[in-house]
Amino acid sequence: MALPPAFLDELRARTPLHGLIGRKARLVRNGRQWKGCCPFHNEKSPSFYVYDDHFHCFGCGAHGDAITFLMRAEGASFPEAVERLAAEAGMQVPRPTPQAAARERRARDLHEVLAAAAAAYQRRLAQPEGAAARDYLHRRGLTEATIARFGLGWSGEGRGALAAELKPEGIEPAQLVAAGLMKPRDPERPEAGLVDMFFGRVMFPIRDRRGRIISFGGRILGDGQPKYVNGPETELFQKRRGLYGLDLAREAAFRGATVLVVEGYMDVIALHQAGFGGAVAPLGTALTAEQLGLLWQMTPEPVLCFDGDAAGGRAAVRAAEIALPLLSPERSLRLATLTGGEDPDTLVRKGGARVFEAVLETAKPLSAALYDLLTAGRPRATPEQRAALRGQLEAAARLIPDRILSGEYRRVLLDRFFEEQRRPRPGGGPGGGSGPRRGGAGRRGEALAPPPGLQRRPIDIAAIRLERARNLLAILLRHPAILPDVEEALMTLDLPAGPCEALGHALLDWLRGAELLDSEALAGHLAQNGMQDTVAWAVRATGLCAAAHPTAQPKEALDGWWHFFGLLRGEAELIKDQTEAQRLLTDRNDPAAQKRLIGLTKALAALRAGETEAIPEEASQDQSPDGALDGAPAGAAWGPVTSRGALRDDTIG
Ligand code: UTP
Ligand code: MN
Repeated sequence: MALPPAFLDELRARTPLHGLIGRKARLVRNGRQWKGCCPFHNEKSPSFYVYDDHFHCFGCGAHGDAITFLMRAEGASFPEAVERLAAEAGMQVPRPTPQAAARERRARDLHEVLAAAAAAYQRRLAQPEGAAARDYLHRRGLTEATIARFGLGWSGEGRGALAAELKPEGIEPAQLVAAGLMKPRDPERPEAGLVDMFFGRVMFPIRDRRGRIISFGGRILGDGQPKYVNGPETELFQKRRGLYGLDLAREAAFRGATVLVVEGYMDVIALHQAGFGGAVAPLGTALTAEQLGLLWQMTPEPVLCFDGDAAGGRAAVRAAEIALPLLSPERSLRLATLTGGEDPDTLVRKGGARVFEAVLETAKPLSAALYDLLTAGRPRATPEQRAALRGQLEAAARLIPDRILSGEYRRVLLDRFFEEQRRPRPGGGPGGGSGPRRGGAGRRGEALAPPPGLQRRPIDIAAIRLERARNLLAILLRHPAILPDVEEALMTLDLPAGPCEALGHALLDWLRGAELLDSEALAGHLAQNGMQDTVAWAVRATGLCAAAHPTAQPKEALDGWWHFFGLLRGEAELIKDQTEAQRLLTDRNDPAAQKRLIGLTKALAALRAGETEAIPEEASQDQSPDGALDGAPAGAAWGPVTSRGALRDDTIG
C-alpha cells in the first residue's frame, strides 16, 4: 500500500538533505546548494550537488531525494528508508487501515475516470463538433503541439453525453460525480437526476505534480459569464493545494527555467509556448501558503507576476501577507509588475519572448516590492501620518519569523523610509511644494492654482473643495458596491487633508480586505476604527447630493460620484486620465477601461459645466479653510487609519 503523498512530502521537508548526505560525503556550501565528490562514483573534482530537496551528480547522473539516497547509499528498501528517516524526523509512518486502502483504491479509480474524461474531451475537440473550439484556440495563437501538450479538449454540449460515452468503459455516473464532472440537478431532490458540470467549454485538464489529472477548468468560447468554471473540490482536487502547469514546471525548473506565477491558465499556456516552461497559475483563487510551499520546492525565489492596476496591487499585498511569515534566508520571492493593461498572454503574443524576458529582469526582490506596495499613495505630511506608515513597515518586518532576516527587512524598509523623508520624491512628500493656501498646500502634486473660472478668495475654494469631497465620500459610504469601479480614480485624488483624506484611505483599506461590499459592514468597520464621528459628518443631510441617498440606484450613485470626481480632479488631469483610458481601451478592449472612460468623460463634462457653480451657502460658513470642522464633535478620530489586514494590524510599533 502506497504511503499518503502528504506524509512523504512532510518527511522530505523535515529531513535536511545536506545533513543526511554529509554523513557519507564531505560537502561544502556553494551558494544556495552544497557540493562535494559524488559518493556513487569515483571522482577527484566535485560534481555532486545537494539542493533543498534533491541531489544531482553531473558526473554520473545519480539523482534523487532523501529516500532514494538511503536506498542507493545503504541498499535500503523503500519502506526501510522511510521508516528510518521518519524515526529521525520524529514522525510516525501511517499504518495501512482498511479505510485507507479503500480510499487509495477509490483515488486510483478517480484518476482513471478523469483520464478517460480527458481523452473523451480531446476526441471531441478533434471531431467536427469541436471545430469552433479549435478555431478559438488557433485564434488565440496556440499551436497543435501546445494543444496536445496541455491536453486541451472540448466538453461537448452536455446533456449527459459524457456519461453515455464513458459507460462502455465501465464508468458509472456516481463516479463522474465523485470526480467533479457531474452534479445533482437539484441537491434537494436526488430523483431529479444528474447534470454535466461542463458544457460548451474548452477543457483545460488540471494535473498534479506527477502529471495525473485531478480536475478540469473550462472556458467559454468568446465572451460570456462565467468565463471560467473550475471543477468542485473533490477527494483528489483541492484548489489551494495545486497549481496549473505544476507537472511541466517541475521538469522545466529542474533544467533551470525560472519558476513564475501568473494569473490565468491561458497565461501559463502562452508562456510555455514562448519558452517559459516554469510558468504556473493558481486555480482560480488567490495564492495560498500551500502553493508557496510547492513553488519553494522548485526554486528558492519564484517570481510572482501581477498586473500594474489596483487589483494587481491588492493581489500582491495579499501574496506578501501570506509569504512573510514563511520566509527564510533560503525561501523568498520576487515580484514583477505588468504594465499597460497587458497580461502575460497578450504580452508574449504581441511582443514575443524578449519582451517578457525584460519583465522578468525588472522583477524586484520582495523587500523592495513590499516597500513600494505599503507606501504607495500613503500620505506622509504630518508626524502622525509618518508614524502610522513607519509602524506598518515595522509590522511587516515583524511577520518574518527568522530573527536575523526580520531585522534585515526592518532595516531595509526603514532606511528607505528615512531616505525618502530627506529627499522627497519629485512633486511629493512633505515640503515638496508651497502654495497660497493652508491645508493641503504642498501635498502630492495637487494642482494649486484654482481653475480659471474660480478666481475667488482662497477660503471659498477650500470650502467648496471640502464639500465636494464630502459628497464624493458620502456616495461611497452609502453605495460601497461602486468602489471597485472607482477605486483607481479615487487613488489618484488628492482629498482635502483631515477627515476626507482619512476617510478616503479608510475606504481603500477596507476594500482591500472586504468580502462583501455592503454599506452596513463598512459602517461597522469604520466605527470599530473609531471613525463613527467622521462618518456622521460625511453623511450629514444638509448639502448632501441625491446620489448619496441610500435609496439612490447604483447607476445614479456612480454618475454622481464621477460628477464630484470631475470637480475635484481638475481639467488638465482629467484630460490626461481620459487619454490613458482611451489607450487602454484600444489596446485591450477591456470593459473596465471602457467604464472608466465613460466615467471620465462624464466627469469632464461635469467639471466644464460646474466652473460657474456658486459656493454652497452653508459650506462657506461652517468650514474652516484648513479642512478642520468647526462643528465637529470633540475627539473625532481623523488620525491614521488601520484595518484588519495582517500587514495593517498593529500600526504603531
Ligand atoms: P483571467 O480572466 O485573467 O484569465 O482570470 P485569463 O487566463 O487571462 O483568461 P483569458 O482566457 O485570457 O480571457 C484569471 C484566472 O482566474 C480564474 C481562472 O483560473 C483564470 O485563468 N477565473 C477567471 C475563474 O476561475 N473564473 C472566471 O470567471 C474568471
Ligand atoms: Mn488573458
